[in-house]
Amino acid sequence: MCGIVGYIGDQNTSEILVNGLKRLEYRGYDSAGLALINGKLDIIKGKGKVASLEKKLKKQSIEGWLGIAHTRWATHGEPNDINSHPHLSQSGKIAVVHNGIIENYNSLKKQLASKGRTFQSETDTEVLTQLIEEIHENGNAPDFEGALQLALKQVVGTYGIAVINLDEPGRIYVARKGSPLLLGIGENEMFIASDASPIVEHTKKVVYLEDGEMAVVTKNDYQVKTIDDVDLTKEIHELALSLDAIEKAGYPHFMLKEIFEQPRSVADCLRGRIRTDSHTIQLGGLVDVMDRLVEARRIVIAACGTSWHSGLVGEYMFEELAKLPVEVEYASEFRYRDPLIGEDDVLLVISQSGETADTLAALREAKKKGALVLGICNVVGSTIARETDAGVYTHAGPEIGVASTKAFTAQVVVLAMIAIALGQRRGVLEDEYAGRLIDELNRLPDKIDKILEQSEVIKKMAKLFTYAPNFLYLGRSYNFPVALEGALKLKEISYIHAEGYPAAEMKHGPIALIDEMMPVVVIAATDHTNDKMISNIEEVKARKGRIVSVTNDENHEVKELSEFFISIPSTEDCFSPLLTVIPLQLLSYYIAVNRGCNVDQPRNLAKSVTVE
Ligand code: F6R
Repeated sequence: MCGIVGYIGDQNTSEILVNGLKRLEYRGYDSAGLALINGKLDIIKGKGKVASLEKKLKKQSIEGWLGIAHTRWATHGEPNDINSHPHLSQSGKIAVVHNGIIENYNSLKKQLASKGRTFQSETDTEVLTQLIEEIHENGNAPDFEGALQLALKQVVGTYGIAVINLDEPGRIYVARKGSPLLLGIGENEMFIASDASPIVEHTKKVVYLEDGEMAVVTKNDYQVKTIDDVDLTKEIHELALSLDAIEKAGYPHFMLKEIFEQPRSVADCLRGRIRTDSHTIQLGGLVDVMDRLVEARRIVIAACGTSWHSGLVGEYMFEELAKLPVEVEYASEFRYRDPLIGEDDVLLVISQSGETADTLAALREAKKKGALVLGICNVVGSTIARETDAGVYTHAGPEIGVASTKAFTAQVVVLAMIAIALGQRRGVLEDEYAGRLIDELNRLPDKIDKILEQSEVIKKMAKLFTYAPNFLYLGRSYNFPVALEGALKLKEISYIHAEGYPAAEMKHGPIALIDEMMPVVVIAATDHTNDKMISNIEEVKARKGRIVSVTNDENHEVKELSEFFISIPSTEDCFSPLLTVIPLQLLSYYIAVNRGCNVDQPRNLAKSVTVE
């Protein structure tokens, strides 16, 4: 989704801004632009990639001592040159970049038009830009900063903004409500960004803005305050992110790198948390809330997309291992239906980015109703991580590919650890079984490695299915969520229509789709449902569907029934998703590459969905 970079200092500003925008490309966007001040205010922007912005800059070199830049993911108005950010006020003196949505932009626009303001674009951002100028020019505020504060108070919706004003050529103003922003503190220079990736190569010192806060940033200083003008002293955080982690390390795509990183990311997620000698699990982030969690009436899990799929795996785990009732909700549905949740309940939100707007809103809704709110997040210091009562980081490292891969497996590992710890504390998990599970968790990185060794086989198989128009994915029990995840991965990066189903549901509708053109990916790797899966495979074959199976090494029956199979090492049923998902990620990846798709930045998708 949209990204913001800002810079003030002695380095080449346009270069820093363009490189920063490149670091933000992974978020998904359709246009890019920047504005610089150097005696005058220059803007270059347009539809397309950062590379085309760079080309324009080469032709029409502009320089400045401060600037703001943006990648836009269209919400109001189609992606085109005019709707791209930055937006200029009518006088041409104020430029704004904005992430988020101004919900009352229509009524504000009418009011501004009645005062003689004209608009170039269809965007809500231009309305905000004009509103700031209108308040400033009409003397309704003591100074420009006051005008900005008054404008922000009139706005309904969400924003992360950076504003520059030709009349104040040494300052960048930023403000945040619902859309992340941070400041990077350098030596005689300051950076601004919507996430840490453009900042990390310049400085590790950052200040996170909270909702309702703004900052006035100069070359050597910054002042954070509320939009009600109350000065704040903010903590300076040290970024743990490294530059290597956000580069491709020789892989053609971030997605492939991240798939292959999973033995390490799973090990990182487990590190220091499991004790194989005492067969116990230590989750530091949950220590203070463990009693309340143990006593909980039920757990509600809220998330979106792939994180919702990991939540579904969590449901099976919590119910089996901790004997706790669980409901898994789409965060967007949960928040809008006045959910019945209270002090006896726990809301567990799962989010890779920690910034997903609907998940954040679900968290706030449950908190208002008195529930204990826990989080599983990947991005350290993200809004969700900061707003939950307690939680566990996945430590998967930065995930740059838009399609989530290593974040999913790390989320499932965290859910497994919580479920086991909870089962032990609630006295419902047999010691012998708990011990077996904890030992097996330690073996998972090697087992994932073994699956990755088969990547060439999966690559060859992908060739045969590259032009299939549809795919069906079937799974049961722990592997039903994996069927959903496999289908989601394929559709988002290859644009092939794919559906995931619990295998038994096939007979209730989807079976009508099966013919000799339909690849059916069957995930048959959980022991207690094996016989039933074999029956489902027979039903598909009887209708000439093409069976691709993901099954255990020793499951000869499923292998014999399959046109193609991918063999995975055996594991405990509840950990099966951590292995079965790997070949499905690779299958989607190779199919998408064969189809010439932009794997890391699929069309219309954004890495962190910060609008509702
Ligand atoms: C799919 C994908 C999305 C995200 C979803 C939630 O590959 O990446 O479906 O899982 O947008 O994002 P987070 O986990 O950041 O809340």
